[in-house]
Amino acid sequence: MDYSTNAQAHLTIDGVDAVTLADTYGTPLYVYDVSKIRQTMRAFKAIFEREAVPYVVSYASKAFSTKAIYQVAQQEGIHADIVSGGELYTALAAGFPAAHLSFNGNNKSWDELTMAVRAGVGTIIVDNFLELQWLSEIAAAHQVQQAVLLRISPGISAHTHEFISTGQQDSKFGFDLLTGQAKRAYEIARLDTNLDLRGLHAHIGSQIFDVTGFEKNAALLADTAHSWGWIPAVINVGGGFGIRYTDDDTPLPESDYAAAIIATLKAKAEAFAWPMPEIWIEPGRSIVGPAGQTLYTIGSRKDIPNLRQYLAVDGGMGDNIRPALYQANYDAVLANDPNAPTTEVVRVAGKYCESGDVLVWEQALPKTKPGDILAVQATGAYGYAMASNYNRNPRPAVVFVENGAHQLVVARETYADIVALDRAYDLASTPE
Ligand code: LLP
Repeated sequence: MDYSTNAQAHLTIDGVDAVTLADTYGTPLYVYDVSKIRQTMRAFKAIFEREAVPYVVSYASKAFSTKAIYQVAQQEGIHADIVSGGELYTALAAGFPAAHLSFNGNNKSWDELTMAVRAGVGTIIVDNFLELQWLSEIAAAHQVQQAVLLRISPGISAHTHEFISTGQQDSKFGFDLLTGQAKRAYEIARLDTNLDLRGLHAHIGSQIFDVTGFEKNAALLADTAHSWGWIPAVINVGGGFGIRYTDDDTPLPESDYAAAIIATLKAKAEAFAWPMPEIWIEPGRSIVGPAGQTLYTIGSRKDIPNLRQYLAVDGGMGDNIRPALYQANYDAVLANDPNAPTTEVVRVAGKYCESGDVLVWEQALPKTKPGDILAVQATGAYGYAMASNYNRNPRPAVVFVENGAHQLVVARETYADIVALDRAYDLASTPE
């Protein structure tokens, strides 16, 4: 891969020197190329505009939820999907319009649903019978008719990593289709005047490269509604569009996935003589993943002759648990000179007290020295979002870069932040 560099041969991110960013903000550091985020958001929208179909692109904010990303989504005119009171709170704190939020999740609490109804969340994607009942009661108490979609388990396996495929029948998400639960939920919701049932939702999994699963899903949702004699206003096919982490990944352009979904639903609408339903997609990873990278400072190394070279950096599974959790692969480059010829293959390990704490399983790199900056690529989705304080390491800062300018959007945690919620144990009050 050819990396963009400046006169010092340093890696640049949207016109900004990565080594300067590391010096300015410290490492580990999450850096997002905002131009790239905007480009992807626009590419998704453009295909629907071109096909002249009604649509909503809803950013699945679980991939990366901070005030700043909701601001960008709002500015680009896309909606956002949330899955918790915490994401709702963050979106509202960013000034994101509640009407443009949808709320997913298999066990939303009474308090979370109340918070959402009070805030005026546009659409709640109802996942189960308890939620159907609670939401009806909460909507009645607040004298609103709440717009909802029903989430269906479509029984489609997306052939992805088992942990991140959510569409198969044995799933905790959604109303089961094969055993008639989905139809029962539809009948209840249709008759409930506290709810405005607008359509169906199904999400088949994540990091999917093939359009077939999306086409099947879209067709299944349309066929299901049709079999109930119902014309839905909305068909939401979820997210899951795959991205390139390494050369082993071969994603299609975003627009190809959307085009396949549009074509499928156009054909269904024509066959059923429906007005074109509003098509909703919920991309998370594809919007923020490729736009993010993590900068680390290289530290110690351990060379085991004839076996392996370990190169350790100042972060690890606390800022990116995906390699440890999913055996995920990443590419990394030496930010001090990304296009230098490589001379060795190393395993990039973190600083956490755990053998599985790996960031890159195998990486060819030029000669490096302690203090050099390593940039792990495509870490923008489910990195910061899944970060922890394991080993009581503070979570890194997040910087947005756009057209040569940079801004801190999440401050680095301090040691004081880490103990801020701790309370001393009153030893004097314990019995002898
Ligand atoms: N919509 C629903 C209902 C979802 O459950 C998800 C992801 C998305 C949209 C967004 O999918 P995306 O476009 O980001 O693939 N932590 C895992 C990914 C879990 C995804 C869960 N649901 C990872 O790091 O790979």
